Amino acid sequence: MIENYVNALRNFLQSRHPETLLILGSGLGKLADGLTDGASISYQELGFPTSTVSGHSGKLIVGKIGDKEVLCMQGRFHLYEGYKPDLIKNIICAFKLVGIKNLIVTNASGSLRTDMPAGSLMLIRDHINLSGKNPLIGANDDNMGPRFPDMSNAYDAKSAERLLKIAQEQKIKLFEGTYLMVLGPNFETPAEVKAFALLGADAVGMSTVPEVIAAVYAGMKVLGVSVITNLGTGLQAGIQTHAETLQKASEASEKLSHLLEEYIKGE
Ligand code: HPA
Repeated sequence: MIENYVNALRNFLQSRHPETLLILGSGLGKLADGLTDGASISYQELGFPTSTVSGHSGKLIVGKIGDKEVLCMQGRFHLYEGYKPDLIKNIICAFKLVGIKNLIVTNASGSLRTDMPAGSLMLIRDHINLSGKNPLIGANDDNMGPRFPDMSNAYDAKSAERLLKIAQEQKIKLFEGTYLMVLGPNFETPAEVKAFALLGADAVGMSTVPEVIAAVYAGMKVLGVSVITNLGTGLQAGIQTHAETLQKASEASEKLSHLLEEYIKGE
């Protein structure tokens, strides 16, 4: 399976050699608009499954930011869509085998703190995997990564510091915190939101953790940013909707584009 993905990716990339992969979360697809000299291919043509969620278009884009080549996944695979977790491992490993060294993950998430409102950006410093799933389950290929990967610097501290510095220079407020993954697809109950805050999490969402585990396993350097699209259930009046997620993510994505553009130029 990995071999098929690798062949399809090599075929698409030809003589281009990006070292950074950017995964775009719900409503953040237009972050790829700033790429120059771009080319794209559908997931279908790559042999990837097609993403089933609105706001995730299912294509891979290669292009340049400054003089850096980057790959962008516009659309990701959520476990709540029914994909097996090792699909995510296989895809990340295929990217590693075609030369990707750095992973930048973005997502839309709910805030667990009333002082971090909708529209905020949060640098992910660490995560809590409450999904009950893991992309590394199954036989291990020791050539790809260790059976028991260390997660002590999963979100690379140096990269995080660099992004904080850029945010300061650009006068963009960048919160920092721990991202907690639930399987979804339902939004949380008010009791869950209270419990997750007590556990030490700052934001909750339904993605990112499998990609990060697979990337750390494969030896990639990871940077993660959450776009806060709402306060967690019970922390704000009204109900949670996917439409609100997409709207708020789209509003905040301009700030995030500025940050990541500068960050990628310095990679
Ligand atoms: N919970 C889980 N996932 C989310 C949320 C939320 O409140 N907002 C955006 N994605």
